[in-house]
Amino acid sequence: MQQQPRTILVTSALPYANGPIHIGHLVEYIQTDIWVRFQKMRGHQCYYVCADDAHGTPIMLKARQEGINPEILIAQVAKAHQADFAAFNIGFDQYHSTHSEENRYYSELIYQRNWEAGHISNHVISQAYDPVENIFLPDRFIKGQCPKCNAEDQYGDNCEVCGASYSPGDLISPRSAISGSEPVQKESTHFFFRLNDFADMLQNWIKSKALQPEVANKLAEWFDAGLKEWDISRDAPYFGFEIPKQPGKYFYVWLDAPIGYMASFQALCNRTPGLDFASFWDANVNNTETNIGNNTEGNTKTELYHFIGKDIMYFHTLFWPAMLHGAGFRTPTAVFCHGFLTVDGQKMSKTRGTFIRASTYQEHLNPEALRYYFAAKLGNGVDDIDLNLQDFTAKINADLVGKFVNIASRCANFITKRFAGKLAVNLAAPELYAEFIACNSTVAELYEQREYAKAVREIMVLADKANQYINTMQPWVVAKQPGQEQTLQEICTMGLNLFRVLLGYLRPILPAIAIASEDFLQIRPLTWDALHSPLLDHTIKPFKPLLTRITPVQIAAVIEASKQDLKTQSVS
Ligand code: MSP
Ligand code: ZN
Repeated sequence: MQQQPRTILVTSALPYANGPIHIGHLVEYIQTDIWVRFQKMRGHQCYYVCADDAHGTPIMLKARQEGINPEILIAQVAKAHQADFAAFNIGFDQYHSTHSEENRYYSELIYQRNWEAGHISNHVISQAYDPVENIFLPDRFIKGQCPKCNAEDQYGDNCEVCGASYSPGDLISPRSAISGSEPVQKESTHFFFRLNDFADMLQNWIKSKALQPEVANKLAEWFDAGLKEWDISRDAPYFGFEIPKQPGKYFYVWLDAPIGYMASFQALCNRTPGLDFASFWDANVNNTETNIGNNTEGNTKTELYHFIGKDIMYFHTLFWPAMLHGAGFRTPTAVFCHGFLTVDGQKMSKTRGTFIRASTYQEHLNPEALRYYFAAKLGNGVDDIDLNLQDFTAKINADLVGKFVNIASRCANFITKRFAGKLAVNLAAPELYAEFIACNSTVAELYEQREYAKAVREIMVLADKANQYINTMQPWVVAKQPGQEQTLQEICTMGLNLFRVLLGYLRPILPAIAIASEDFLQIRPLTWDALHSPLLDHTIKPFKPLLTRITPVQIAAVIEASKQDLKTQSVS
């Protein structure tokens, strides 16, 4: 039953520092956090790091628009992001920033090593340039008329009216979105990462990984299309790190962004005695006792996982492992990709009020409810997941309030009022307890595989069984029968023990409810192994409601407030 202890580093993608966290982002942070909490409960050494992605043109321009330094903007956003994550109980071990000295150090190091190995070249390219603002224009900063349907005011890469995609050069009367002037073409030297140098290495990396089939297919397509060199530099003015010995040239934000994973972990190492950066990131660190899987090459001492959305797969499955390998670092053990969130079957929309910020949600609804709902929807594939608001309300009320919490509330009062909070010394139905425990390896394996929806289904079957037990035993009837004191105490003790096992199984999903329940039960934070022994002859505190029902009024309030958010420009 006892697993070998593992040493694991986990990341979520770094949110851009130019906007608030919304419920779409939360799919990823909740998915990752559940996995990390699960690993920790299993007794593994697991670290979860993240950071704000603070560089790039959009952030520079947003700061300019607000009349503040980018440093001020990213500090404000960092504060808001971290408040949002805290509200949703995303338990980062370290939250850092890509605009940090650690990140500058590793960005320069990785660039330097790849340069010395001949994996970086430079040549002159021609690009759209705003002659008024004196700035090169990324595609999304060029607007014009759609070449297909003539719609006005469309962005450089696709038309929101007819859906056509094209390149900015095809736009009719193109304009800079910054100054409104007509872009000109201008030449400049750029630096390129020679991705194709890594074709063989990447093919091997892909083969050795348990990549999701959809991801593997996508990669095969990219390989067939040929790996192109990657433009890793941008010209001043740019908010980022200047390339060493190349004045006026900056690292493109996507070069230093994933390196932010290392920077954040370095910051954690700096304040954690005994935590050794090299054993997580060096290419060849072998553990003689355990080899992960049958992989005996590379870093077999620690595991490295990146959780990401499907839109940023290319960066994480091609550029990132190649950059790491080129610089003598280890490659990720696996990259876990998820789909996008839709609300009521459609893309999140500001006008429909379904572009819901984390902070707005949290003013009206319990974050645990969203964690549970996402868990109940998430599998390990890249399919999009839908937040159906009616289904959300029904599911939380039925599963969490009606089934799970109800078990405790049906039993606890008798224990408090009739037995001074003391649980019985015996389990009334040990075989039922054993049945609950027998499910633990199935549930654990489902968590490990990120099959949370399936895990939740298993757990809810057990919750039904616990409620059936209470229905059959009718403690409220027994309570009125003279001389049945011991029976009553044992039935309620049994019910609370079933609740405790369910709590253990749901703990990675419901950290706040877990803390409140552990306080009520007067127990230490549950571990997976602790569930094997029941809680007997032990005093608990009076029960307080752990969760209340969601009402349609709350949902309407969130939608309304999200429409209002449209009008506010604030970063949080
Ligand atoms: N800054 C980059 C990531 C750099 S990682 C080295 C970025 N930032 S983001 O803020 O746009 O997105 C952060 C994460 O949230 C990404 O993994 C992205 O896929 C995910 N999501 C953003 N919107 C989402 C939905 N609507 N639904 C699900 N995930 C979403 O990309
Ligand atoms: Zn169009």
